[in-house]
Amino acid sequence: MKLWLPQATTTAPEVDYLIASLVLISCLVLALVFGLMLLYMVKYRAGSPADRGGASEKTWRLETAWTSATLLVFFGLFIWGADLYVRLFRAPPDAMTIYVVGKQGMWKVQHPGGQREINALHLPAGRPVRLVMTSADVIHDFAIPAFRIKHDVLPGRYEMLWFAANEPGTYHLFCTQLCGTGHARMVGQIAVMPPADFQRWLQQNAAGETLATAGKTLFIRHGCSGCHGIGGVGGKQSASIVNAPPLTGLYGSPVPLANGTVATADDRYLRDSILMPEKSRVAGYPPVMPSFAGQIGEEDLIRIVAYIKSLAAEQPQ
Ligand code: CUA
Repeated sequence: MKLWLPQATTTAPEVDYLIASLVLISCLVLALVFGLMLLYMVKYRAGSPADRGGASEKTWRLETAWTSATLLVFFGLFIWGADLYVRLFRAPPDAMTIYVVGKQGMWKVQHPGGQREINALHLPAGRPVRLVMTSADVIHDFAIPAFRIKHDVLPGRYEMLWFAANEPGTYHLFCTQLCGTGHARMVGQIAVMPPADFQRWLQQNAAGETLATAGKTLFIRHGCSGCHGIGGVGGKQSASIVNAPPLTGLYGSPVPLANGTVATADDRYLRDSILMPEKSRVAGYPPVMPSFAGQIGEEDLIRIVAYIKSLAAEQPQ
């Protein structure tokens, strides 16, 4: 039986070092404080012959030295932890995106190529992967202990998580947020594969259409193309079409909003724009877009977002 969890990502050893140092330093401080306490309890117990006279003058030197030493050590730990945290939660730009929807009792995964899995996630080794996660019902938590990562998955918004798994193998996936009677069944397997095997897996599980092409169908069916134009070219060109911003070249770019702020057109912004159009209305456009909240499920939203994302490569008109 293995007592130690495998360290299956590039960042896992760093997380382990930080936790081990924190435990070690805390134990040292505890041992010092309790050691002195015990020592003096025994030495000065009632009736012991220890010398109780000649109390030395109080000096500030010891107080200052002890306080600054502990402050330095714990402030150092804070900087170490903060630096690691920032790196753990900022995905590198070349990360591949995989979408995850939590539902009571299951994790539903969608790959950009349209491949879908339930309570399983296949990944290539040695490649940063970014998960865009949301929930269709209550709060869940996506946790892979061997990767040393976990993150809450909330209904109504996109949460991100990234990692680079470097050890091929199979690892446990858990939901670590009590989410109802299906909670115990929300477990799954993460299969980290050598890149060539992963490519083969993608081909073997090829879906009829990619996320983006499925999204294009929905884009037309829900009437988005009525204003934003077929292909998302925008609705400015004709008097009969309502004025709507173009979606080509949008993903990843800064968007000046009507409320005076500037947003970045990431997955979260695109989703929010579909459900809460007024919140993210683009500067210079009339408030005419209806909200699609309650009309499009999370999985279809992912497909529409993937379609709009795929328009990033097209030139804005
Ligand atoms: Cu989902 Cu617990």
